[in-house]
Amino acid sequence: MNTITINARRPTGAINPNIYGHFAEHLGRCIYQGLYVGEESAIPNVKGMRTDVVEALKAIKAPVLRWPGGCFADEYHWRDGIGPKDRRKRMVNTHWGNVVEDNSFGTHEFMELCRQIGCAPYVNGNLGSGTVREMSEWVEYLNSAGDSSVVRERWANGQKEPFGVRYFGVGNESWGCGGNMRPEHYADEYRRYQTYCRNHGAHTLYRIACGANADDYRWTEVLMERAGRFMDALAVHYYTLPSGDWHNKGSATGFDEAAYYRTLKQALRMEQIVRGHLQIMSRYDPERRVGLIVDEWGTWFDAEPGANPGFLYQQNTMRDAMVAAMTLNIFNAHCDRIVMANLAQTVNVLQAVILTEGDQMVRTPTYHVFDLYKAHQGATALDIRLEGVAEAGEGVPQLSASASLKGGALTLTVANTSAGKPAQARVALLGLDAKAVAGRILAGAMADYNDFGANRVCVRPFEGASLGSDGVQLNLPPCSVAEITCS
Ligand code: AHR
Repeated sequence: MNTITINARRPTGAINPNIYGHFAEHLGRCIYQGLYVGEESAIPNVKGMRTDVVEALKAIKAPVLRWPGGCFADEYHWRDGIGPKDRRKRMVNTHWGNVVEDNSFGTHEFMELCRQIGCAPYVNGNLGSGTVREMSEWVEYLNSAGDSSVVRERWANGQKEPFGVRYFGVGNESWGCGGNMRPEHYADEYRRYQTYCRNHGAHTLYRIACGANADDYRWTEVLMERAGRFMDALAVHYYTLPSGDWHNKGSATGFDEAAYYRTLKQALRMEQIVRGHLQIMSRYDPERRVGLIVDEWGTWFDAEPGANPGFLYQQNTMRDAMVAAMTLNIFNAHCDRIVMANLAQTVNVLQAVILTEGDQMVRTPTYHVFDLYKAHQGATALDIRLEGVAEAGEGVPQLSASASLKGGALTLTVANTSAGKPAQARVALLGLDAKAVAGRILAGAMADYNDFGANRVCVRPFEGASLGSDGVQLNLPPCSVAEITCS
């Protein structure tokens, strides 16, 4: 029998809402067509931002959005994206599909998008191909209230008050597309660039250093030793590939059970990766001042047939939902150290929560997981133990769960990872006298996905949770993610 024991008397940390963050790059149809269509578009919009997409992101309480990249960040020159649109510089996006980037979405548009969603902006600066001065002036443009020429430019562009950006990344993947640097070199560059990213007035920057590629622990070692005291957080990237092989990643929708479990097994590597980096960080920062961020994570499959391979457009199935559920449970378990995470990428790219086609919009299974998990944002994580759990396949445990408490209500999120078997579980609640239980569930076959005009998987009320004298009894269908609320 599966037993889940939750101890409401044992808090394990506060879940930073930013763990449920997102990432939007100038890549494929993420920004253009996905988030931004321009004011002249026939697609309903407010100041160019798609109303349907903004509303959908508000509904899952998207807390923070990272922009403009990704690899694009280290090729992005912010001045190209301000001022009258017809005078903005055109460039070719050489990282992603060699398409023309007309810079019609720039700093002001990004800030407007965040304002509409109600999320915090996370701006990633260009260390790879930009200058120290350029980065310094971007921060000044964003945050200063002083009467400088840079600030006057912002006024001329219609923004009197500082934007007040807090989260600022100093380079992206500097070990790869952001300059192919050695950690020793990046550590020095980071120290130099961040020096000129000033705090302006009350707008104190939260400086984020580029972290490692997956399990490259040496990167963390060198960064923490040489630059740890100059950063607020270190941002690691880890993507889930079914095969682990970048040259043959596998299809997003056409996969068998073996590939399904291999993918979940790859996703579970996040636990080890997080632990590995935290261990090193704690050695150099015993006070645990520096936070860990995972500002790119998610599945990465072969692009959909017929799509521009440089656009990284992929469909999103119940397998992605499982990856999201398991990963978010891992982040909740480490919420004492993980201060932010950003799923890649919000719309039409990689493990997107939303897909668009013209004026149509689809909420993916991953979107629904973020909806089921939103009660965890800002809640207190609770100690949770899983016992007697069998293996679903490839060493992946059949159950993955996390629990939190907010305002007297306990939220348990649990995934049954088995593609074919239901799961029964008894949930013992220590320190909570529950009087009522309610639930919502997302369930389907492992390769089910939502398409334009075919909404196959969505959140429904969950009837499989009942309250008894010895806790809550759960009856979970195969391949499902549930949110159970006890109050
Ligand atoms: O998210 C797609 C790309 O993946 C990003 O641009 C880059 O940072 C990473 O390699």
